[in-house]
Amino acid sequence: MAINERFEQLVLETDLNSPAPENEPARQAWFLARARMITQKRIKEEGRPLTFRVETFGCQMNARDSEKIIGILESAGFTEAESEDADFLIYNTCTVRDNADQRVFGRLGRAGHLKKNRPGMKIAVCGCMVQEKSNVEKIRKSYRFVDLVFGTHNLYRFAEYLCSCLESDGMVVEIWDRADRIVEALPVARKYPFKSGTNITFGCNNFCSYCIVPYVRGRERSRTPVEILSECERLVSDGVVEIMLLGQNVNSYGKDLDTPCTFAELLTEVCKIEGLQRIRFMTPHPKDLSDEVIEVVRSNEKIARHIHLPLQSGSDRILARMNRHYSKEQYIALAQKIRDRIPDVSITTDIIVGFPGENDRDIDDTIDVVRRVGFDNAFTFIYSKRAGTPAAKMPDQVPDEEKNRMFDRVLKAVQETAHGRAERLTGRTMEALAEEVNVKDSSYITARLSNNMLVHVPGDPSMIGKMLQVRLDECRGFYFFGTVV
Ligand code: 5AD
Ligand code: SF4
Repeated sequence: MAINERFEQLVLETDLNSPAPENEPARQAWFLARARMITQKRIKEEGRPLTFRVETFGCQMNARDSEKIIGILESAGFTEAESEDADFLIYNTCTVRDNADQRVFGRLGRAGHLKKNRPGMKIAVCGCMVQEKSNVEKIRKSYRFVDLVFGTHNLYRFAEYLCSCLESDGMVVEIWDRADRIVEALPVARKYPFKSGTNITFGCNNFCSYCIVPYVRGRERSRTPVEILSECERLVSDGVVEIMLLGQNVNSYGKDLDTPCTFAELLTEVCKIEGLQRIRFMTPHPKDLSDEVIEVVRSNEKIARHIHLPLQSGSDRILARMNRHYSKEQYIALAQKIRDRIPDVSITTDIIVGFPGENDRDIDDTIDVVRRVGFDNAFTFIYSKRAGTPAAKMPDQVPDEEKNRMFDRVLKAVQETAHGRAERLTGRTMEALAEEVNVKDSSYITARLSNNMLVHVPGDPSMIGKMLQVRLDECRGFYFFGTVV
C-alpha cells in the first residue's frame, strides 16, 4: 500500500471522541482528521475552497520537506493557490547564507499586508532559519501577525500544529533543539509524479567552520536500509523512475545504525529495485568518498553519471581553516580517479569565495583546481557570515568589495571550463528523462541527461516522465538542443 493510502486509512479509523493518541503516526492521523473537520466546516460556510501556498527556499532537503508539508495540507482539505494570497501561507526557509534570511523577512512583510485583506488567513514559517533563536525573536517582535513557527526536527508534527493554528488565534511556536525520532508513514505530495527525493540521513556532523547546517539540522541520523528500500519500492510502484538519495554527507550513511551499513552497500541494494531506472545522490564529502562508492557507480548503469563534489576552496590554507579535512592535491587526485574510473561522468561543485583571511593567492589556487578538474558546472557563493559558527569569529573578515572582485574572477574561470566540457558531447546520442514542458516554448520538452545537463527537444506533454534517446544537436553553454531518435 502506498504511504498516502496507509496514512489515509489511519485517518479514517481515527475516533475523534477519544483523546489524541500518544504514539506516532496515529497521533498525527488524529490531528489530521480534526483539521479536516475544521476545514470542511469552513469550506461549507464560506462556499469556496480553502487554499494554501508553500514557498520553499534552499536545498533539496527543503524541497523534500515541502512535499511532506503539502501532503498534509492537501490531505487536510486545502487546495493549492497560484500565489501567496492564500488561506494558509507557509515559508519553508533556508539559513545557509544571509541573503536567504533577508529574502524571507522581505516576503513575510508583504504577506502581512495580504493578511489584512484576507480574514482567517494563517501565516507559518518553518525550516532552518527558525532553528536560530534570534530569528524567532525577530518574528515574535516584528512580525506578530505570524500564526505558526516550527523547526526542522518536529516537522512530522505539522498536522498537530496546523490543527492548533486553525483552532486558535495567537502565535504557536515550537522549536526543538534536537530530533527525538524519525517518523515514517506520513503523507507526501510529490512535485513530479516520475521522480522523487528520498532522505537517507538527516543532519550533519562535519562542522565545516563556515556552515550553520550542523547547528540547525542537528547531528547525523540515518534511516534504516529497510525503511529506505521500502520507501523506494513504494515510489517505484507509484510510477517513479528516478530517485535521488538525499543527505548532507551521504558517505557517512549508516555509521550510526545498530547494524551498520555503508553508503556503497545501500546504493547497491537500491540499484536492485526493478523498474527504477535512474538513481542520483547528493551530497558526498570529498574527505571520505570511498573507492567502493566509485566502483558501485561505475558498475551500475542505473546510477547517474554525475557526482556533485563540493570543493569550497582550492587553497590548502583556507581548506584547513574551513575544517574540510582534505588538501588541494587530494581533491584533484580524487576527481581524477572518478574521471578515470567512470567514463563520461560529470563533476560539479560548490565554491565559497571571500572566506575570512582569503586573498588573491588563495583564489589563484581555487582557479587552478577549477581548470585542472574542469568542472562541468559550479555553484559559486560569496562567503556569508553565520552567527554561531567558528568562521564568524575569525578576525580577518574580507570586505565586500574584495569578495565581489574575487567572486568575479572565480566565476569567469568556472564559465570557461564548463562551456568546454559541455561542447564535447555535441553530436552524441544519450538517454534523457523528459521532465517538463519548456518554459519558454511549449512545443519543446525539457529533459535531463544522466550527467544532469538539460536538453530541449521538440515534443509534447505525453513524453513527460519517459526515458528518451536524444541526439544532442547543438550546445548552448550549459544546455543543449536536441532531437528524439
Ligand atoms: N557562506 C557561503 N556559502 C555557504 N555554503 C554553506 N555555508 C555557507 C556560508 N556561510 C555553501 C557551501 C555548501 C552550499 C550548500 O552552500 O558551498 O556546499
Ligand atoms: Fe555544512 Fe560541511 Fe555539513 Fe556540508 S558537510 S552541511 S558544508 S557542515
